[in-house]
Amino acid sequence: MRKPVVAGNWKMNGTQASVTALTNGVLTGVRSAPKVEVWVCPPYVYLSQVANALKGSAIKLGAQDLSDRAPGAYTGDICAEMLKDVGCHGVIIGHSERRAYHGETDAVVARKMVAAHAKGLIPMVCIGETREERENGSTEAVIGRQLDALMDADGGMRALQAAVIAYEPVWAIGTGLTASPEQAQAVHAFIRTRIATRNSALAAKIQILYGGSVKPDNAGELFAMDDIDGGLIGGASLKDSDFLAICEAANSRG
Ligand code: PGA
Repeated sequence: MRKPVVAGNWKMNGTQASVTALTNGVLTGVRSAPKVEVWVCPPYVYLSQVANALKGSAIKLGAQDLSDRAPGAYTGDICAEMLKDVGCHGVIIGHSERRAYHGETDAVVARKMVAAHAKGLIPMVCIGETREERENGSTEAVIGRQLDALMDADGGMRALQAAVIAYEPVWAIGTGLTASPEQAQAVHAFIRTRIATRNSALAAKIQILYGGSVKPDNAGELFAMDDIDGGLIGGASLKDSDFLAICEAANSRG
């Protein structure tokens, strides 16, 4: 049985004060979802602050990105060692906003996954097709290519053993358009089948989250699908009551 995961991706939002308030809100309410692994992923500058607030709780801390390089002369970058040092459990990798605004390729994403795993971080790797790719029928080709890059990378299969996959159709992120449970399930099943071509035990155990406009009112039907093991939540993770309602929806699956 795969444990459901619900991760809040706070993106580039917050102040010290609002981050404290949101963290406290999540901490207070999360006890009602004991069967779910809950992550919060604040901006880098608030990681230590949130790590301190989370001490002694079961909530996991995640970062939103990392460098694929070892410590050194890389101005502005943050490496896996630093994320571990401030108490991160995992890190989101290959989010479509990183791919779109920072030119991250499948190869870069794969290297970041391996770099995170090498330092003991859980990689939460995002994959997903654009609206154009869905409309021209290339969803499976795109998802297959993104997955193959992860599996073909040096150390990729080893890193995937510890990873979580987040399927996030780009057209559903922040748009209010959600994939229907059936659309999402079809891609999740495809992802599992693709991974099974290399390692069927891994395909059966890997957690595959759905992301893209998950809200309290659609989370239950999405999480009820066989291959959807929770969600990566953007906008709705910024409001504690919405995020907690989504955690509870995942809890009834767990
Ligand atoms: P959204 O973002 O929930 O605001 O659509 C999801 C994500 O980008 O991880």
